Amino acid sequence: MHTLSEQNICFIGAGSMSEAIVRGLIQLDSMNPKQITMINRGNQERLLELNLAYGVSYSQDEEQRKQTISGADIIVLAMKPKDAADAIRMYHTSLRTNQLIISVIAGLSIPSIEKLVGHSLSIVRSMPNTSSTIGLGATGISYSQQTTLVQQKLARDIFESIGIVCEVEEAALDIVTGVSGSGPAYIYYIMEAMIAGGISGGLDATAARLLTVQTVLGAANMVLQTKESPADLRKKVTSPGGTTQAALELMSANDVAEHISNAVLRAAERAGELGTAIADQIDANITN
Ligand SMILES: NC(=O)c1ccc[n+]([C@@H]2O[C@H](COP(=O)([O-])OP(=O)(O)OC[C@H]3O[C@@H](n4cnc5c(N)ncnc54)[C@H](OP(=O)(O)O)[C@@H]3O)[C@@H](O)[C@H]2O)c1
Repeated sequence: MHTLSEQNICFIGAGSMSEAIVRGLIQLDSMNPKQITMINRGNQERLLELNLAYGVSYSQDEEQRKQTISGADIIVLAMKPKDAADAIRMYHTSLRTNQLIISVIAGLSIPSIEKLVGHSLSIVRSMPNTSSTIGLGATGISYSQQTTLVQQKLARDIFESIGIVCEVEEAALDIVTGVSGSGPAYIYYIMEAMIAGGISGGLDATAARLLTVQTVLGAANMVLQTKESPADLRKKVTSPGGTTQAALELMSANDVAEHISNAVLRAAERAGELGTAIADQIDANITN
């Protein structure tokens, strides 16, 4: 049972992140739709929609859901953080010790999952980002001690079907959130500003958008394909006394780079705060 093609996978939560992963697995032929079952809280239309789009199975009633969970090799926890504790409590008696649990839930730590289940398990905690929906995601993953090398490889294979994967210690998932989890929004923010600048300078909105989008796409691909650092590429396009230098000097005078680095750290700090709030809530419910 070393490859994804030999696994049965059950998604608890049938939202946009689950759909992104399912789409990736099926498009890459990593799994047959028959190996995939979706479970949600009650939205039948959504399960039918996923069944029609990807051919995946779904379990509807309580008994069917429990059987699916207990029969799966891999279980993906993909509900919103606020719903996670209730869902894990609802299904934990169906879990078996040799299963692999993969969580995409922001802020929910491995110790918190183990607390809810009542014992240690093979758990992979991940932090994907929204670009996963188009197969260009960036995911940070970390493993519980019990996770075997084979299970680690299976988890990497799953997230590589929707982008790239970086293995990190669990504590580093907060800074992963700061860099890549929230990162797409920073780039959108910069793009908004570039488009606005283009329009202010006389371009029509369509041209400003087209030129900005292609510039961001091209710059990311230049870093990828040339393997040069962003700093080196920036220096190469910055002629002394030229237009780029004039723009960069203005950014530098306003500490733009420092503000962006601080924003990354603030997002990481916020991820830590949210994680602590989830853990405290779980502890309070266990005590009561
Ligand atoms: N979207 C992203 O780009 C992204 C990026 C990184 C991490 N994440 C993480 O991914 C997780 C899911 O996000 P999402 O955007 O996919 O959420 P979503 O679209 O709102 O989907 C949540 C799903 O969870 C189901 N659910 C809720 N409670 C349940 C229960 N007790 N039992 C079974 N299913 C239950 C919901 O079912 P019903 O519809 O029937 O209520 C729904 O199918 C979140 O924890 C988020 O932190 C998402």
